[in-house]
Amino acid sequence: MANHFINHTAPGIANLKPYIPGKPISELERDLGISHSIKLASNENPLGPSKKAKSVIHGNLEELALYPDGGAYLLRSALAERHGVELNQVTLGNGSNDVLDMIARVFLAPGREAVFSEYAFAVYPIATQAVGATARISAARDYGHDLEDMQSLINDKTSVVFIANPNNPTGTWLKAKPLKAFLETVPDNVIVVVDEAYFEYVAEAEYPDATQWLSDHPNLIVTRTFSKAYGLAALRIGYSLSHPDVTDLLNRVRQPFNVNTLAQAAALASLDDEQHITLSIETNRKGMAQYEQAFTSLGLNWIPSVGNFITVDLGRDAAEIDKALLAEGIITRPVANYGLPNHLRISIGLKEQNARCIDALRKVL
Ligand SMILES: Cc1ncc(COP(=O)(O)O)c(C=O)c1O
Repeated sequence: MANHFINHTAPGIANLKPYIPGKPISELERDLGISHSIKLASNENPLGPSKKAKSVIHGNLEELALYPDGGAYLLRSALAERHGVELNQVTLGNGSNDVLDMIARVFLAPGREAVFSEYAFAVYPIATQAVGATARISAARDYGHDLEDMQSLINDKTSVVFIANPNNPTGTWLKAKPLKAFLETVPDNVIVVVDEAYFEYVAEAEYPDATQWLSDHPNLIVTRTFSKAYGLAALRIGYSLSHPDVTDLLNRVRQPFNVNTLAQAAALASLDDEQHITLSIETNRKGMAQYEQAFTSLGLNWIPSVGNFITVDLGRDAAEIDKALLAEGIITRPVANYGLPNHLRISIGLKEQNARCIDALRKVL
């Protein structure tokens, strides 16, 4: 039945396609009546959160009746110190998605344009369209961002450029030199978002830490998250670093208590646990090698990835393979919604989980 309210929505909403999240384990098991499923669909940390994070969560349970510290003083101070910026440059979000949404609400509107790449993270088109702005999508080069092409799409209507480094779902990345050169060319009234959700996993010498460029580029916003290497996806916490004037604007649309007490405390405790991050990165590196070897032996091509996921070309409709894997209790992520109908994105799990996924893939192919 036609939606009675569709003609009464704000610009952009009527044609908006909602974000498709990875299927939760509970839903799959309910639907198929199976158990012992594994989820390798949302780029989470298979080791879970740091022990330090879990212990402070217990310690904060008595605080749950009170609103959180809306200014998140302790965590923002720790992040400011870690990144060598001022407190008034840090904005926390209910996940970094929340910050991406704030950026769109502050800088985009009907008649304005956002530039991002084909195959770029799905939240950029959603955040852009939700505020009635226009997406200018640059054709990808080798599945990754083509900065020259992106530059050619910037015009006097452009308000925001979104760049994921590395990108999800492709795992492609940009080197420091071309990215810095790109920033130099962007007019200083155009906001450039460098989304570093998978920053911790990247072990490439030429991979940049864009936070180092904040003082040169007041129009730069760098986003990070605690959902990936820090293993806190369920708590929903991420942040951005930006010029104080930009932070001030983001704060005008930020919900007053957007980051809950447990998330603030757990994120703060996680920052100290270097060992957990090191182990998470190492587990990921080994798991990535496991998949690369398996794909080679299966004769499958994949997109080289520096994230905690790998996107493989099945050479046929991935929806059927996804369905067959689900029946085996393995949840991965088809990426047809990104324009990659033959690809499947697999989040790197623990050794045994990866082995199970590879065995299942071998069976269903
Ligand atoms: C590139 C990229 N940016 C941002 C996010 C958002 O993560 P969160 O809202 O959990 O911080 C994700 C999550 O998958 C991502 O892949």
